[in-house]
Amino acid sequence: MSAVRMDGKMVSAKVRGSILEEVNGLKDKGVRPGLAVIIVGEDPASKVYVRNKERACEECGFYSEKYALPEETTQEELLGLIDELNHNPRIDGILCQLPVPKHINEQAIIDAISPEKDVDAFHPINVGKIMVGNFDFLPCTPAGVMQLLEEYDIDPNGKNCVVIGRSNIVGKPMAMLLLHKNGTVTICHSRTKNLKEVCAQADILVAAVGKADFVTADMVKEGAVVIDVGMNRKDGKLCGDVAFDEVNEKASYLTPVPGGVGPMTITMLMKNTLKAAKLHHG
Ligand code: GUN
Repeated sequence: MSAVRMDGKMVSAKVRGSILEEVNGLKDKGVRPGLAVIIVGEDPASKVYVRNKERACEECGFYSEKYALPEETTQEELLGLIDELNHNPRIDGILCQLPVPKHINEQAIIDAISPEKDVDAFHPINVGKIMVGNFDFLPCTPAGVMQLLEEYDIDPNGKNCVVIGRSNIVGKPMAMLLLHKNGTVTICHSRTKNLKEVCAQADILVAAVGKADFVTADMVKEGAVVIDVGMNRKDGKLCGDVAFDEVNEKASYLTPVPGGVGPMTITMLMKNTLKAAKLHHG
């Protein structure tokens, strides 16, 4: 039997609809959530993500500003723009699309964004708040995964949850959110021994590796929930980290790529921006 396909597009549309409703309600108070998106350089994948974020802003009735800066922008120039945006009352959320060019220190940029406008939840203050379970903003991709699980009535409580990948953006915060929901969480990475055996114990398996077809059927327990966070290109086509067809026969639930976690990530960014606007103007 094939797995239930977890439809991130459908869930996203529903959540964005409820955000738009709330935004329309805020209009009466003279409040319109505002997001500034910064992109430095010409990375084609980043350009697509930024375009999708702008579109989502329109869909949710937000005010948005986009800053497309040239590759040779200096760190000082970028920090200057962030400082301006930190003080701009029309802007509730600031997002600098990563990666930035090599001559710019990524952590310095993350640290410069005001924690109250850090809708990515990458600032160390927000990371710390997530760790202690007292947060304003949730990291977008892990939050998108959690919302998908909730929509499909999948409760991590007491389940073996395995996260493959230990990035600051996905793997580490993903593990923390699953832990907050009482999952028994294991993080696997490139140095993990017996990776296949560990993954095959998972009731909920989250793949955030960045390699096409990394998760094969032999790594998946019969009936497991498999969440694919991967965004890879194979023969010019977007694909995830999971070998979809073979895992589809073994998993009980599976996210497609595209149309699974991707749209949820951007929707969670919208949710964080709305939350920021309410915090700033509430
Ligand atoms: N690059 C890849 N994913 C993300 C993300 O969620 N936020 C930002 N700012 N950059 C990214």
